[in-house]
Amino acid sequence: MHILHTKEAVKSFRQNLPKDQITIGFVPTMGALHKGHLELVKKAKESANVVVVSIFVNPTQFNNLNDFSNYPKTLDKDLEMLRNMEVDCVFVPDSQEIYPNQPKLKIDFGDLERVLEGSFRPGHFNGVGIVVSKLLNIVKPHKAFFGQKDLQQVAVIKRLVEDLSFDVEISVVPTVREEDGLALSSRNLRLGQEDRLKSLILFKALTFSKAELLAGRHWLDIRNDVNMMFVEQQGVDLEYFELVHSNEMRILDGLVPEIPISLCAAAYVGGVRLIDNISVID
Ligand code: PAJ
Repeated sequence: MHILHTKEAVKSFRQNLPKDQITIGFVPTMGALHKGHLELVKKAKESANVVVVSIFVNPTQFNNLNDFSNYPKTLDKDLEMLRNMEVDCVFVPDSQEIYPNQPKLKIDFGDLERVLEGSFRPGHFNGVGIVVSKLLNIVKPHKAFFGQKDLQQVAVIKRLVEDLSFDVEISVVPTVREEDGLALSSRNLRLGQEDRLKSLILFKALTFSKAELLAGRHWLDIRNDVNMMFVEQQGVDLEYFELVHSNEMRILDGLVPEIPISLCAAAYVGGVRLIDNISVID
């Protein structure tokens, strides 16, 4: 497995690949890898014959300095996991390599970023858009893989690729969960034992709401119940809980026929910010 730290090294890695019938699959990550990330790698391996993974904790997408400095770093373990998956190349740049200059460009994703994560984390998707653009330009993959766990990020990346004509196919991989339903996330490492139990409220509220919606109950009544569930759970602060168009992220006030619909939620559990979503209608 090649472990590369510079854009130049990635360029020569690409140049040394055989010219024919090469499909490069790319999985961008911020490290602290878990089975969710590995599922993306698995899907990349299934549809590409060269797999590149990047590990870079991107400072420009954190709007909270504390969150950035507390982001878990487990590089040796990450590399071992990727070696076991027989990944061809891991790109591990430092900040200077990606940001020799502070980018002045600002990407505005319009309506897509006025809601949910975008409204609670101002500037977050600008940072994601800039770094993903840079990584796509460095790695030049044929296919790139993203998790449904970050549903709004998927919408943002698809808009980026479409509006800027990036020559890459975007694949979306379903959310990988713990047996009890908690979506795998690098941030789960920061949950203490008690908070780990409390965090289950997120998945419970999502599955409860989906069942009630499909049984025909009004969304606003369901949401009142959900708000109560969170008020009663001490140590958990609900940030948002919304019904949305799954691709456009438009907030809905009830089920609408013939559009894909998801429920999206964010909450602080013992100070750790967790997000999750489930599809209600595909
Ligand atoms: P990171 O949070 O490390 O996630 C990397 C990829 O793994 C993302 O596409 C994310 O949606 C996916 N992922 C995370 N948890 C998952 C789970 N439980 N099941 C399935 N997929 C999961 O997302 C980022 O990094 C960054 O924003 C990045 C795109 C790398 C840009 O910096």
